[in-house]
Amino acid sequence: MKYYRIEGAHPLTGSIKVSGAKNFLSKCIVASLLTEEPCVISNVSRIGDVQVTLDMCASIGSSIEWMNDSTIKISTPRMTTHKVPIEFSGINRIPVLLMGPLLHRMGKAEVPLLGGCDIGPRPIDFHINALKTLGAEVELTDTKYKTVATHMVGAMISLPFPSVGTTETILLTACMAKGTTVIQNAAIEPEIIDLIIILQKMGAIIAVDVDRTIIIEGVDRLRGFTHKALTDRIEVASWACAAIATNGDIFVEGAEQTGMMTFLNTLRKIGGEYEVFEDGIRFYSTGEPLVPIFLETDVHPGFMTDWQQPFVILMTQAHGLSVIHETVYENRFGYTNELTKMGAVIQLYKQCLGGKPCRFLHRDFFHSCVINGKTHLKGIEMTIPDLRAGFSYIIAALIAEGTSVVKGVEYIERGYESIAEKAAGLGARFDVIDS
Ligand code: UD1
Repeated sequence: MKYYRIEGAHPLTGSIKVSGAKNFLSKCIVASLLTEEPCVISNVSRIGDVQVTLDMCASIGSSIEWMNDSTIKISTPRMTTHKVPIEFSGINRIPVLLMGPLLHRMGKAEVPLLGGCDIGPRPIDFHINALKTLGAEVELTDTKYKTVATHMVGAMISLPFPSVGTTETILLTACMAKGTTVIQNAAIEPEIIDLIIILQKMGAIIAVDVDRTIIIEGVDRLRGFTHKALTDRIEVASWACAAIATNGDIFVEGAEQTGMMTFLNTLRKIGGEYEVFEDGIRFYSTGEPLVPIFLETDVHPGFMTDWQQPFVILMTQAHGLSVIHETVYENRFGYTNELTKMGAVIQLYKQCLGGKPCRFLHRDFFHSCVINGKTHLKGIEMTIPDLRAGFSYIIAALIAEGTSVVKGVEYIERGYESIAEKAAGLGARFDVIDS
């Protein structure tokens, strides 16, 4: 069993390089399936999610070559099957995205059920409804989704919520459907804009209009692309929170200000500091006490739900009451139980605390939390429940007095590259034990 042993209460100082964005790379790899020509992607992270997506593509006929440590060439001149093997069931959110490319090239697709972090039910009804609207027939069996389409036709699709994955499913399907597709209430996260940029390089015609509207004019054929992945703004925020929570001072090479503006504003409001350079961002503690905050997670350009967990830990170090209202996922505070065992004072509520009522009003979900700081945390043994919560446990362990043992590290290695090496490079007492 592999686990991390972390001795806390040491400030993080030094420099690290942020990796390519997890939430973009898998989609970029899937986009390559839309063409018979080779595609070259650089700034590729060596993380579990990327490897699983590459394996999935290989299982249907792609050939993959690592050209150097972080660049891949992926070619799918011919798809060998329309069935993505069942062994990919329950691992990540990607199988459903393969449906569009498979339908265009094979006329049918079978993909296993989805997995990913256990942060609520995470249905894919919006994806399925969108595929049906574009002309596919979709059937759910015990183990997979089966879909078939003789031809895909553009349509008007209004999303009930600006879902990231559904917007991507539609983009990857509608770009080669006949006629025009309009997505209303689309997600417009930077990772989605980068996917649109790739599709444009491939020959697609896609316009991002006002009011979350995306207009896709279908084309008959797409060609190969060369693209450098944008950097991971969730990883940047995670290290930033770790630096400030430990009274440290770090430079994150490759961190990009665009896409992080809401995080940076929020950080400054609580008294955390940063300085933007051409090649990255320095995050540091001023030594002054952190002040509490009210904040709501939201879709882009709001405060990302994936920044919530590291920020909660940071707020355990602010003086006073902070209120966090999670409006994207109904069940994303479960991880705080372990933090209270470390000494954090965190209370969960079913009400929409603070600003505006959200979709989860009057439903039975603990989706608001109040954090009473500042608390001294002590090291304990913890088991990671999901990817983003995992990094917040690491930050908690880095702050805490004494030694923490963090288990379930496979979750974290699915989304964060070389976490132990990066932490050690910042002076953390961080050991990886493989017993
Ligand atoms: C992606 C990200 C994840 C991030 C999330 C929101 C990847 C691999 N994962 O997840 O890190 O936290 O965006 O920024 O990119 N929903 C439905 N039905 C659907 C689809 C979504 O009800 O068919 C709901 C979800 O349960 C959730 C909300 O919509 O409450 C947002 O989900 P979505 O944006 O689709 O998240 P993912 O694409 O799965």
